[in-house]
Amino acid sequence: MRITRITLANCRNYGEATIEPQPGLNVFLGRNAQGKSNLLETIGLLGTGKSFRTSREAEIVREGFGLAAVSADAIVRSGNVTLGCTIARGERATKKTLTINGRPVRYAHFLGKLRVVSFAPSDLALVIGAPGLRRAFLNLALAQEQPGYYTALAMYARTLRQKNALLREGPPYDEALFAVYDRTMIERGARMTLARARYVQALAPHARTEHGRWSAGEELALGYESAIGYEIGDDESALQERFASALETARPRERARGIALVGPHRDDLTLTLDGRALAEYGSQGQHRTALLALKVAEYRAMAAATGEAPLLLLDDVLSELDPDRARRFLEGLGGFEQAFVTATHLEHPLPGAAAFAIEAARVERVA
Ligand SMILES: Nc1ncnc2c1ncn2[C@@H]1O[C@H](COP(=O)(O)OP(=O)(O)O)[C@@H](O)[C@H]1O
Ligand SMILES: [Mg+2]
Repeated sequence: MRITRITLANCRNYGEATIEPQPGLNVFLGRNAQGKSNLLETIGLLGTGKSFRTSREAEIVREGFGLAAVSADAIVRSGNVTLGCTIARGERATKKTLTINGRPVRYAHFLGKLRVVSFAPSDLALVIGAPGLRRAFLNLALAQEQPGYYTALAMYARTLRQKNALLREGPPYDEALFAVYDRTMIERGARMTLARARYVQALAPHARTEHGRWSAGEELALGYESAIGYEIGDDESALQERFASALETARPRERARGIALVGPHRDDLTLTLDGRALAEYGSQGQHRTALLALKVAEYRAMAAATGEAPLLLLDDVLSELDPDRARRFLEGLGGFEQAFVTATHLEHPLPGAAAFAIEAARVERVA
């Protein structure tokens, strides 16, 4: 899939801008704070419906304005499509509207039309940061790959909030309501757990192979750590049973602490290097290499699962690698259809790339 034209209006520091990217590599060069990351953020917004920089979407609306809009013409396997997103900043609330060919659609329907894999230096937090970041990583990849995943996740998250509210209130408990919440969490949570565990299984060999190209014989292993005790080979009904019995065991503790303690909201993607937890034992270099491998794995797994190469968004990443590593990184992806690369400067030009200069949110094709 690829984008042929992208139009921004009042997104971040942009006024009006239209960019016509090329197939293959598109490089955006500019000094700091000119709008490079902002551009990538808006492209990502069309893929995932979410910003990879912020959860406060009102921030995306240009200061002094009320409405931000981005739209793109894309060529996907199923044909040509125009995707749009507007964010209206109101006094009390922010309203986001997603459109396909000009018609508003629900989030679950929007997802997966344009798929993106993004990579920025701050993603290092995936390797060394809190489990919630890795769950978000899994959620975002799966929501793009499988439309049904997002629906399960949304329902699970809502029920979890309701259950936690009830637990916080304390006794006397409305047992019938608890039973309803638990049943929903078991159903949706088992589906999520299975999807995530299978996804990690699909990711693992890609990550191991890619890591092997960069490191001297160390082995990177990915695993899925499940609070309800997922084991390889479990199907959905086996997982539902595990979840039900884990909930029963945890009930007294959940009530004592006033919070839901088991379920996929407590799970983690584990990364180990030769059997040792990477975050604690790895050096900075090892963390970076593992992140490269993880991102390439994400890209390859998405391409394999959907039969279509996603867009690649590389924010300040290639310039951090020396030319040889940058070339090997791009090779490792196994071919991409379109990539957006930002850098303040490149020591060596990337062969075949279209180059754009960004200055104060003005984008100009320079090569
Ligand atoms: N909502 C907004 N309205 C206007 N300017 C914004 C908004 N959000 C961010 N900016 C500005 O965008 C600039 C940063 O752009 P960014 O794309 O991150 O730069 P870079 O080119 O270094 O990647 C900053 O100057 C920041 O003040
Ligand atoms: Mg930037």
